Amino acid sequence: MAIEKTLAIIKPDAVGRGLAGDILKHIHEAKFKIVAVKSLRLTKSEAEGFYAVHRERPFFKDLTEFMSSGKVVVMALEAENAIARWRETMGATDPAKAAPGTIRKTYGTSIQNNCTHGSDAPDTARFEISYFFSGMELI
Ligand code: CMP
Repeated sequence: MAIEKTLAIIKPDAVGRGLAGDILKHIHEAKFKIVAVKSLRLTKSEAEGFYAVHRERPFFKDLTEFMSSGKVVVMALEAENAIARWRETMGATDPAKAAPGTIRKTYGTSIQNNCTHGSDAPDTARFEISYFFSGMELI
């Protein structure tokens, strides 16, 4: 199994509710290495650029307003099979459908306010990591 990097975001709903520490505990318990981390507030246009792949979806406006509504914590996580493993750790996009014990099942309140984001494939992981981190920050 290959060592991979994936992008993880703790979203404004979770940061605003003081859940960043609890979510970091899930990350440590699942044995991810946090290669890089930063806390920032996205502008609307930065959120639109990040989620450009969803531009035509009906939820795009609400999603980008939500993602620019408060601070986020952004991380590059590294592990064997990190992309799939982080998605398993988060649980399904809709918290109501997520497996027990997952982050979204435990803390998520709606399909939009689902507390965390993760890349869905190697190409998107490369794009998403480079959206937030320079090569030097990933050493
Ligand atoms: P995320 O994994 O960050 O990817 C896209 C985000 O859009 C998703 O999590 C949700 O926060 C949000 N979203 C809102 N509505 C939907 C929907 N109907 N289907 C998928 N994602 C949605």
